[in-house]
Amino acid sequence: AFVTDMTTERTFIMVKPDGVQRGLVGEIIKRFETRGYKLVACKMLWPGQDLLKKHYAELSDKPFFPKLIAYMSSGPCVPMVWEGREVVKMGRMMLGATNPLQSNPGTIRGDFCIDVGRNICHGSDGVESAKREIDLWFQPNEVAKYESHSKDWVY
Ligand code: PPS
Repeated sequence: AFVTDMTTERTFIMVKPDGVQRGLVGEIIKRFETRGYKLVACKMLWPGQDLLKKHYAELSDKPFFPKLIAYMSSGPCVPMVWEGREVVKMGRMMLGATNPLQSNPGTIRGDFCIDVGRNICHGSDGVESAKREIDLWFQPNEVAKYESHSKDWVY
């Protein structure tokens, strides 16, 4: 094959309650699909506070933590696992910066939001946190293994 040495990595991307309410699930999935990434897990789930406190454990000392948990538990979310070359870093780039003043037009946040407290989507910040988050939100049998037949020219 043209590329045989690619390391296939996975990231955890989640449409947050405001993204679901605003009808942006399809838009976000579309951007990852058309970029060339492979969707291997996806569901809708209204997360409880316990799950969210585990997910955001590193932020428990931040002043915005209670608001973040309240916002994230305010409605259903769409957690997903995407697979492909450099998908962790690329996913963050496609989401755009956390600070709205730095999220460029063309990114998901840069195109659709202006509030750090309502920022539509989450993406893992590293390969290790992606593994942790995927294990937290998905059972192993919810993550599909299948061949992408375009894998030799789209990563
Ligand atoms: S920090 O302070 O550097 O740890 O923050 P950062 O890594 O940029 O963001 C971590 C997550 O916290 C969310 N966040 C906020 N939520 C609500 N209010 C405020 N002020 C705020 N600041 C940061 C931010 O969106 C990140 O969540 P995820 O789900 O990872 O995008």
